[in-house]
Amino acid sequence: MKQIKIATNVEVYAYEELDAEHRQLLKAAQEAAHNAYAPYSQFHVGAALLLDDGTVITGSNQENASYPAGCCAERTALFYAGANHPNTPIRHIAIVAFNGQGQVEQISPCGICRQVLLESEQRQGSPISVWLFGREAIYRFPSASSLLPLCFGKEALE
Ligand code: THU
Repeated sequence: MKQIKIATNVEVYAYEELDAEHRQLLKAAQEAAHNAYAPYSQFHVGAALLLDDGTVITGSNQENASYPAGCCAERTALFYAGANHPNTPIRHIAIVAFNGQGQVEQISPCGICRQVLLESEQRQGSPISVWLFGREAIYRFPSASSLLPLCFGKEALE
């Protein structure tokens, strides 16, 4: 037996270090979270995508009494982008979440959303940088694949 280590790169920012474009994207994600329909979890998530042509697309989580029928904020936004802007690459995704105490300390996309992000990235052939807006720290992953080591992607089916 031998052990290997799988490492990933993440940058950590303070809000003051963000440029205007990223502050605006955070604001869009925060505003999107207001439209979350989350009567079961009370966990309000907002996602904002910045496309190559400057378009901003937002999404929020939409729950359902039949729990698995609900959809996360990230997938709401990503599927809207795929359906309406299929040929415009996504450059960034910003994610933020609120619970009863306000903005959560650390938000991280679920496994299914990481998988969908990966597919969007592979489909467009360029990296999507992933911004996780926690209350104090902001994490930036350079790509969807860096959030999903040893991922299962479409190349496995080719
Ligand atoms: N949720 C998201 O929308 N995005 C995430 O990154 C994590 C979880 C939603 C799903 C569900 O509506 C609620 O948050 C609690 O899991």
